[in-house]
Amino acid sequence: MLFAEAENPRRISLTICDAYTATENANVAVKGTYKNRGGSLFSCGVQCSTDRAMYKPATVVSVDELGQEPYAFVLCFPKPTEDEIQSRLFELRSLGVSALEFVGKANVYGVPVPVLGKGFVGIVVIAYLQGERVAVKIRRVDADRADLLHEAQMLAKANSANVAPKLRGASKNFLVMQLIDGDILPTWLQHNGEKEVVQGVLRRVLEQCFRLDQIGLDHGELSKAPKHVIVDRQLEPWIVDFESSSDARKPANVSAMGNFLFTSQSEVARQVAKVIGERDKAAIVGALKNYKKSRTKEAFEAAVQACLE
Ligand SMILES: Nc1ncnc2c1ncn2[C@@H]1O[C@H](COP(=O)(O)OP(=O)(O)OP(=O)(O)O)[C@@H](O)[C@H]1O
Ligand SMILES: [Mg+2]
Repeated sequence: MLFAEAENPRRISLTICDAYTATENANVAVKGTYKNRGGSLFSCGVQCSTDRAMYKPATVVSVDELGQEPYAFVLCFPKPTEDEIQSRLFELRSLGVSALEFVGKANVYGVPVPVLGKGFVGIVVIAYLQGERVAVKIRRVDADRADLLHEAQMLAKANSANVAPKLRGASKNFLVMQLIDGDILPTWLQHNGEKEVVQGVLRRVLEQCFRLDQIGLDHGELSKAPKHVIVDRQLEPWIVDFESSSDARKPANVSAMGNFLFTSQSEVARQVAKVIGERDKAAIVGALKNYKKSRTKEAFEAAVQACLE
């Protein structure tokens, strides 16, 4: 059974009678005869822009089996060696992780199992910690960070302001945190076009940035944040990836995020403008600059207003 969003926003339940795969990894085209919920048959072609990985069943692999391929490749991407595999398995056990679950919308090149996310520093997968599903960021062997301990420290500080997934544990190569079940902002925006909902989510993103500014923690990568905000099923946004964060620099979270979302040339800013309408960019830049000078709640609210209302 497949659910497709029609041009008019009615949900139609489709039974695939005949299907073919258009491309190996990304788009799946389905052609054939379908039965709608009323039982009547109709013919059409559907191009699903959805990642095929979404439909792959989850694979739960106990730590004892993670040394085998293809899992060892994810554990020590991109160059597994026997010593590294064994030392990482020891680390995982010490953290209390009993298994990893391979499911998600991202792929690791050359690995036939999906993951939650992948970046230049880490690969993020679901893990089991004392029976609870959490997320674990696995440091890539070729990462330009020697360990994930600084990121863990910064994440803990963000948590103190009630921002970001809760830190659950950390070691040299693993960062264990609260699992966020949602979509990264650009994907979420593709499926959520209701103005008030988008305004609400973006306001909460800016409020979280304000709280980070107030505790003196600069995220460091919010001016190019397409992958750094996840929106969960309850419409709560979560800021992730604190590896470049600092509590020594002057924080610029609100202005970085505000400019990224509302004044930049980014695809996300284009998506946002499409939903909430074109904003006065000069007024936004001015309000953000003004906030940056005073850092008061009033200046923050004025900036939010310029961005969103
Ligand atoms: N707690 C979480 N729950 C669910 N998914 C997560 C979580 N943390 C991260 N992810 C997913 O994993 C992706 C990669 O994580 P992250 O940005 O920390 O990796 P990175 O290697 O530092 O990336 P980059 O190269 O962009 O800096 C995120 O964009 C997000 O999709
Ligand atoms: Mg990163």
